Amino acid sequence: LPYPVITIDGTTASGKSTVAKEIAKVLGFTYFNTGALYRSVTWKILALGYDVHDEEKVVEACRRLNLRCVIQKEDSFSQASILVDDQQPTEKELRSSEVNEAVSIVASYRKVREWLLPFQRELAYKEPLVVEGRDIGTVVFPESPYKFFLDANLEEREKRREEQGERDNVAQRDRLDISRSSAPLLCPADAVKLDTTKLSAQKVVEKILDILWKKG
Ligand code: C5P
Repeated sequence: LPYPVITIDGTTASGKSTVAKEIAKVLGFTYFNTGALYRSVTWKILALGYDVHDEEKVVEACRRLNLRCVIQKEDSFSQASILVDDQQPTEKELRSSEVNEAVSIVASYRKVREWLLPFQRELAYKEPLVVEGRDIGTVVFPESPYKFFLDANLEEREKRREEQGERDNVAQRDRLDISRSSAPLLCPADAVKLDTTKLSAQKVVEKILDILWKKG
């Protein structure tokens, strides 16, 4: 890899996004939320009227989609945004209960994941990155020396989602993500694992930055 890539994987609502964004800010790296990529594709598939349980049709429809990535730069923050057929779904659309319910089903299809793999890797040839997801340290950037894995107990994670006012079946999404045969959610053997149940996001950020400084 020409640029450094920091990978942050973990369970649903374990604090990945908050932490990954902050680390990207501090280091001046680009933040790439791969969950948003799976969500954008799922949103489009639903909008086109497909039944997400029909694997063959979904795979076929995905292959016809035109995905693009644009780097949006604000004052102290740069992030990757996804366009599907030149449309950028809103945050509200990406986090709707329909997408929450369907995304782990679409993400379980091997051919969907294979299709998205080069797309995710490409970005690392343009920018230093902080990438969050479920299989980033295991499958997308296995060669990265900077891997982290976040988890927290289920009760705490459900509480966090509720506080965000989202209808999201955290346990079910975890179950699907852990049990799928293609790139299941698991802690990479060489990742630093952090339990965030009793830690503030700021504390987690401090711990990760501390580990990164020590690595040099
Ligand atoms: O991170 P977020 O909760 O937005 O991700 C939504 C869903 O996308 C996950 O539950 C998972 O099914 C899928 N996903 C994945 N691999 C990734 C990132 C997300 O399978 N690297």
